[in-house]
Amino acid sequence: MPYLEARDLVVEYATRHGAVRALDEASLTVDAGEVVGVVGESGSGKSTIGTALARLLPGNARIAGGDVRVDGVSLLEMGDDELRALRRDRLGFVFQDPIGTLDPTARIGRQLRWVLGKGTSDATLAAQLERVRLSDPERVLRAFPHQLSGGMAQRVSIALALAREPRAVIADEPTASLDASVRGEILELLVGRTREAGAALMLMSHDLRAVRRWCTRVAVVYGGRVVETAPAERLFAAPRHPYTRALLEAAPGAERPGERLRPIAGIPPVLRGEFGGCAFAARCACAVEACTAQRPPLARLDDDGAAQPDHEVLCHLATVATPPRKERVA
Ligand SMILES: Nc1ncnc2c1ncn2[C@@H]1O[C@H](COP(=O)(O)OP(=O)(O)OP(=O)(O)O)[C@@H](O)[C@H]1O
Ligand SMILES: [Mg+2]
Repeated sequence: MPYLEARDLVVEYATRHGAVRALDEASLTVDAGEVVGVVGESGSGKSTIGTALARLLPGNARIAGGDVRVDGVSLLEMGDDELRALRRDRLGFVFQDPIGTLDPTARIGRQLRWVLGKGTSDATLAAQLERVRLSDPERVLRAFPHQLSGGMAQRVSIALALAREPRAVIADEPTASLDASVRGEILELLVGRTREAGAALMLMSHDLRAVRRWCTRVAVVYGGRVVETAPAERLFAAPRHPYTRALLEAAPGAERPGERLRPIAGIPPVLRGEFGGCAFAARCACAVEACTAQRPPLARLDDDGAAQPDHEVLCHLATVATPPRKERVA
């Protein structure tokens, strides 16, 4: 049984211009011990999956279908107390902007005590900071968030996320706002600490090179659906969805710090309701008639198109080894 699971999840945001369907039957699992990279262009739905998995969606969001489960238990059936306990004890979060995520009015030591309990000794707090390789933990414990660099603040956030030994950590672009010089070491720390703790890690990122390096499995999100998922090595070596191919061809690890993926001609869709075809069809170089008419079925693959349970693709052409490409893409 997967530790985290989104199953056919539909999430809509109410906006001034009507409902936006951010997730359109998205399915994703994260097992114990996995580092799952979640990639896709801006607006594809990565953050919405992450926040839905902890039922931390903003007030204008509505879960309109499907289910989210942690350790096999549906979050849709949990009461507020149970949800709070789940978020405190079993899930950890790391966000893009560490200084903005920390409470600006409280010293780091106090914020760690909120997580670990009032009676926690200074030595225990300092040990938590040593584990995230902060070199002067006593000083950091006395500091306010604005007195730390972005990299130090993100180390503190990682310490906070892992302090109660959660079984899964959800990290949404944890290095996107950091200086290029520290991004690598922060990611190494995050992956290393979650591994040491035996926790699963879900990593939303625009940095394909980092995803390739650190993730065991990758999920590609487009138009609110997970359109392809496979072990990382396999996904990068033999991508099957035309969207994944375009993504990898257009950004072969060349994106710069803070840069968003925007490599493919045309713009991603903003869905208003259920979509009758494949959301990528309008931009796809391989699209055939069925792609605009029917929702693609889930295919499990290997290189010959035969069953392969850990490589899943949502594409009408999934079983065609190399679909013919049109000359031009709109
Ligand atoms: N609070 C909100 N209110 C209204 N619409 C929202 C809200 N949050 C997200 N959306 C919309 O939902 C869709 C999915 O957004 P989401 O933030 O999940 O994408 P993302 O893949 O995380 O993008 P990015 O890479 O830019 O972080 C987008 O169309 C976005 O505009
Ligand atoms: Mg996001």
